[in-house]
Parts: sequence; structure tokens; C-alpha cells
Amino acid sequence: MQQKLQNKWVNNPQSLIVHEQKTSSSSHSINPLLLEAKGISHKFDYELFKNINLSLHKHETIAIIGMSGSGKSTLLNILSSLLKPNEGSIIYKQNNIYELKKSKLLNIRREDFGIIFQAHYLFRGFSAKENLDIATLLSTKDIDLKLLKDLDIEHVLNQGVGELSGGQQQRLSIARVLTKKPKVIFADEPTGNLDKETSSHVMDALFDYVKNNEAGLILVTHDETLASKCDRTFRVLDLKLEEIR
Ligand SMILES: Nc1ncnc2c1ncn2[C@@H]1O[C@H](COP(=O)(O)OP(=O)(O)OP(=O)(O)O)[C@@H](O)[C@H]1O
Ligand SMILES: [Mg+2]
Repeated sequence: MQQKLQNKWVNNPQSLIVHEQKTSSSSHSINPLLLEAKGISHKFDYELFKNINLSLHKHETIAIIGMSGSGKSTLLNILSSLLKPNEGSIIYKQNNIYELKKSKLLNIRREDFGIIFQAHYLFRGFSAKENLDIATLLSTKDIDLKLLKDLDIEHVLNQGVGELSGGQQQRLSIARVLTKKPKVIFADEPTGNLDKETSSHVMDALFDYVKNNEAGLILVTHDETLASKCDRTFRVLDLKLEEIR
């Protein structure tokens, strides 16, 4: 199993990045800075952002909303080390992550950043439990049984990933992110496949994690009610990131 996983990691390191209660509304002003985006500009076929700034503090939850195609996932990729912007820097622990050596950047991605993608990337040939073992293997942290209960997946651990429902897969990929105890969670529509009640359990698990750990959350969502549970909400609009709440 370990050898298999190591091979996967070597062949495709990005494949191991899984696709991650309202804290006090003043947490961003009193808690230390975790991550800062400075002067971010980026374009693909057309310009998406111009001179965007954002700061995330410990115990803070930030929501990013905006129309489909406005660039939310792109911005999350930039913030989370996966896409170097045309201009600007992402400061984490006093360094611009895009100026770090590749090995250091990989370390941050593996140890400190928890990325929950819009489409989740589980290893389909493995069981649910083996997918969680990957996180413990890479981070030397234990699986948190309470977390599995909170996410209601403790009873499906021996099933193959292909035998899980879409929502169970999504919850498993969130468990895999939280298992490694990340400092910053980047979540792109993490509850997109879930019904309202399950979605609320999953978000509570994420909010509780941020409240009880020295962590922060940046959440991309279409759901304005969900966004309103975060400390601050921003909208991507007209090349800018506008703080709306
Ligand atoms: N790798 C890429 N190469 C070229 N264009 C891209 C790339 N990634 C995204 N885009 C384009 O950038 C724009 C923003 O895409 P992005 O996925 O960030 O939007 P989004 O706000 O997350 O949308 P949605 O709400 O539908 O998920 C789109 O027009 C998309 O086609
Ligand atoms: Mg998107």
C-alpha cells in the first residue's frame, strides 16, 4: 500500500491534494495574519482580476461569491499555491509562496494547506479508509474518529471509493483534508453535491475546525446563505474583489 501511494505521489504530486461556527465577527482584526494576497492580477483569454488584495487571519472564515465564470476557482487556485498569478504575491509565513523553492512550496501544500476542490480527487482503486491513510501517511497525523462520525462516513470506510455515493465521496475528501490538520483550508463549493441537511453538517465540521485550531478558511460558494455564516464575504466583480459584508 505504502509503495503504491509513494508511486502515485511521485508520478502525480497534485493528485494527493484533495480536492477541503461562524467565528467572532471581529476575529480578522484581532487575530494574527495567516495568508495575504497582494496586488493579484491575472488573465487567461480575458482579464479576470486587477490588483486584488485579501488577508485571512487565524480563526477567520471568508466567503467568495460571484457569477459562474467570474474567476472564483481561478482565484482560489492562485491563493492556494496551484497557479502563479501574472502579477502579485501570496504571502504565507513571511514569504511569497511563488518565490519559494519547489520543495518548500510542496511542503507547504502538503503540510499546511488543505484544498477541497470543486471536483474531488479520490483514489478510485482504494477503499475509503485507504484514502484517509494517505493523509496520515503524508502528515503523520492520526485519523480523527469524531470527525468521521460528524461527517457520517465512519460506516463506509471499508467500501471502495467507486461504491460510495457522490455526497459520501465529497465528505470523504473533506475528511481527508481535515485529517492532515491544515492551517489554511481552501474550499471550492465543498457542499455542491449535498442536500441541505448534510451540507449543514459538513459546513459545521469545517467551521468547528477553524474555531478549534489555529486555522482559517476561504470558501468559494454560490450559496449566499452559506456565505453569510462566514465572518466576511467578498464578491468577484468587474476585475475586483469587493467586500460586501
Ligand atoms: N486553465 C485555464 N485556461 C484558460 N482559461 C481558463 C482556465 N481556467 C479557467 N479559465 C477561464 O477563466 C474563467 C474563470 O473560470 P473559473 O473556473 O475561475 O470561474 P468560476 O467563477 O469558478 O466559475 P464557476 O462558478 O462556474 O465554478 C472562465 O472563463 C474559464 O473558462
Ligand atoms: Mg469554479
